[in-house]
Amino acid sequence: MEIGFYKDQFVDINENVVPIQERGHQFGDGVYEVIRVYNGKPFLLNEHLDRLVKSAEAIYLELPYPPERIYEIISEGLEKSGLTEAEIYMQITRGIAPRAHLFPTTPSVMSMTIKNARVVDKKKRIDGVTVTLMEDERWKNCYIKSLNLLPNVIAKQKAATNGHEEAIFIRDGFITEGSSSNIFIVKNGTLITTPATNFILHGITRAAVIKLASKCNIPFEERKFDREFLNEADEAFITSTSAEILPISKIDDISLSPNRPITNLLYNEYCGLYK
Ligand code: PDD
Repeated sequence: MEIGFYKDQFVDINENVVPIQERGHQFGDGVYEVIRVYNGKPFLLNEHLDRLVKSAEAIYLELPYPPERIYEIISEGLEKSGLTEAEIYMQITRGIAPRAHLFPTTPSVMSMTIKNARVVDKKKRIDGVTVTLMEDERWKNCYIKSLNLLPNVIAKQKAATNGHEEAIFIRDGFITEGSSSNIFIVKNGTLITTPATNFILHGITRAAVIKLASKCNIPFEERKFDREFLNEADEAFITSTSAEILPISKIDDISLSPNRPITNLLYNEYCGLYK
């Protein structure tokens, strides 16, 4: 059963619980995390909670509970839900207070949903997905997993309207990341991804892939690359908690080779991490 959690208690997933003066609702004033549960076990949970702590610190937000308590709430929620293949979304906001920009003195609030995991279509895994390039119109602190996702939402919608799976952002002529994913390419046997600066989210899947590349002795570089370099890639893929490792078949009008030895190797290794 899919369930929710709001302000210290578990609730029905469809219950109306967010008050009108909640700052997450009024300002997007908060941070979030997405965690995949495989076989009843939250995958890379420490890494996600570490990033949650960092995101909260970056916006001067105090967590309502210490990470140990968050672990307990997650375990309790998973048990209550009975779900074993799940997706946990958790948001921490600056709480409930009369609307004013200045930080309130009221405590922050955590909300969470535990739902069935969305599983990527087998066909997409095999055929790959198409992406479209778009100007990165976001702010400069994309390393913070902020609730403010308006540019990401608009980009994803424009991509979908034009039949693409994902929008890939370009800032100052260089590829940054997807609207909800990181991007990797393979060129002449070397795996390449955008450096983990403030212009991208430091993806947990991205970090896992980098570790796997090292384990598999795949040469790896973190460096900036532009549209032309992406178009000439031997392989390219996106990564995220929900998509895992998803091959790119086409970038706007440019088709990539369906031969993807390194992407396939990394995907098999990635699945091995939780199986
Ligand atoms: N999105 N970049 C952006 C902008 C993202 O929103 C995400 C994740 C990633 C990949 O991060 P990770 O590997 O830690 O999931 C990169 C999640 C899945 C979401 O918002 O639903």
